[in-house]
Amino acid sequence: MNTYRLRPIIAQDEALILEARNSDVVRPFMLSQVIIAPQAHAKWMAAKLIDTHAPYYLFFYGSSPIGVAGITHYTPETKSGEWGFYVFAESAPKGAGTVMLAAFLDVVFSKGLSQVTALVFEHNVKSLKLHEKFGFTRKSVLAGYADGGDVTVWQLSRVCWQQKRAAFVAMIETVTVE
Ligand SMILES: CC(C)(COP(=O)(O)OP(=O)(O)OC[C@H]1O[C@@H](n2cnc3c(N)ncnc32)[C@H](O)[C@@H]1OP(=O)(O)O)[C@@H](O)C(=O)NCCC(=O)NCCS
Repeated sequence: MNTYRLRPIIAQDEALILEARNSDVVRPFMLSQVIIAPQAHAKWMAAKLIDTHAPYYLFFYGSSPIGVAGITHYTPETKSGEWGFYVFAESAPKGAGTVMLAAFLDVVFSKGLSQVTALVFEHNVKSLKLHEKFGFTRKSVLAGYADGGDVTVWQLSRVCWQQKRAAFVAMIETVTVE
């Protein structure tokens, strides 16, 4: 049995995702750092659950949910979207973020997405390194874009991912994708 599992979010994940997204290990790295209220989150969840173009997944290590990865701002004309992700569980093993995101990129590109964009705080060293590792190109810096500081803009095309994915295949194979 594979160690990791990526499955689309379901309605029952609502409280878990809200708690994770508002937690001190995730919220400071999000573009909007306000604490999300349950009602606003419920509305967001309801929209996500029916949006087939912008999938959201919960990531498991064994039976424990440890992370979230998803697509937002899907643009049908270019088949592109922005990704958002976090590993929220203290029990997550080192390297879990890399595994989750490699498997996630592989899923969304195989489903037909052409390009993934990322907005990352300049101070978010772990995330910046991850984007470099996956072959994202750094496009620009949005100075003062969000309260938490300057934001860097990154892009990865399906073609670039296909050239890069061989380096991640062994990792991807440890993930069961539902
Ligand atoms: C970013 C995040 C998903 C990374 O998850 P993770 O499980 O720690 O990731 P990994 O263990 O796979 O480490 C990823 C890379 O980060 C870098 N890294 C890890 N720990 C680090 C540290 N303490 N200092 C600097 N870089 C570090 C390394 O480059 C590492 O890859 P490598 O070990 O192969 O060199 C996680 O830290 C997180 O959820 N952060 C808060 C939310 C967030 O920032 N989301 C992204 C918004 S753009």
